[in-house]
Amino acid sequence: MPRPSPSRRTVHVPVMLHEVLNSLAIIPNLTIVDGTLGAGGHSQQILKTMNNQGQLIGLDRDQSMLDRAAQVVSGESVSLHQCSYAQLNDVLDELKIEQVDRVLLDLGLSSDQLADPQRGFGFDTKGTLDMRFDTTTGRSVAELLRSGSVDELSQIFSEYGEEKAAARIAEAIVKRSRSGNSIQTADQLVELVNEVTGPSKKTKSPSVARVFQALRIAVNSELDQLDTFLKSVLPNRLRSGGRVVVMTFHSLEDRMVKEAFRDSTTWNNLTRKPLTPTPSEIRMNPRSRSAKLRFAERN
Ligand SMILES: C[S@@+](CC[C@H](N)C(=O)[O-])C[C@H]1O[C@@H](n2cnc3c(N)ncnc32)[C@H](O)[C@@H]1O
Repeated sequence: MPRPSPSRRTVHVPVMLHEVLNSLAIIPNLTIVDGTLGAGGHSQQILKTMNNQGQLIGLDRDQSMLDRAAQVVSGESVSLHQCSYAQLNDVLDELKIEQVDRVLLDLGLSSDQLADPQRGFGFDTKGTLDMRFDTTTGRSVAELLRSGSVDELSQIFSEYGEEKAAARIAEAIVKRSRSGNSIQTADQLVELVNEVTGPSKKTKSPSVARVFQALRIAVNSELDQLDTFLKSVLPNRLRSGGRVVVMTFHSLEDRMVKEAFRDSTTWNNLTRKPLTPTPSEIRMNPRSRSAKLRFAERN
């Protein structure tokens, strides 16, 4: 799988940048983990705010994003690691760090990944439907669609996409695979979902976005990663008085973060209601519209 050239300029605009920096309450000499580094937009500003005094540990499952971020986030105090944020224990053990002061998660995918036709994240691409953040492991979406049963696919669409036509879409996909013509590209999947659910062939059915979201969550085990991190990793690795800031882009993840911060023996929840982008940010960066930011302090 060819990687996007890291020299290509990033198209990702960091979401709720001021809110993220404020809620992280950055001062010099902190040890900060950016668990979803992406193109490094947030981390670059975090380092600036710390006057480059402190340590930044950047993680991403996607090596091509780390390559991109390395162009703007670098220096002696920076270390970048290709892994899931759920594997933070391993990284901190390797660095001989017991606990950190701040953790940021900006979940989901970067606009750079969305714009890369080889990855299959976007609706209009003809590249292979992959959608894995780490393309070296696991099943791609194309493989899942070829080998998944009606039950498995239907459950994915209804659980991770909250899609009402889950069963009908799953049946159509399996019927197509059985005929030896399984779905390979994003535009073929869009066409199939439109045929099953669309009001007309010309209008994109709202089910398309739900189906794509569901498949991305499934092939990356996104909810399991977040669950493991919130329950078993973060409480041990964030020092008392340290802060975690999490930005989510769909209700399934937001609910998990909200639930985790409800545990008042572990967390001082600092956002009863999540922060959301201002109307002007949404106008300038429409992809920010579904962002919800929550943060909490470790007791
Ligand atoms: C929204 S982007 C982050 C953008 C970044 N904050 C910026 O301003 O450039 C999310 C990134 O998280 C990565 N990612 C998704 N799930 C991950 C996981 N479980 N562990 C580590 N990285 C993950 C994706 O590959 C993507 O690069």
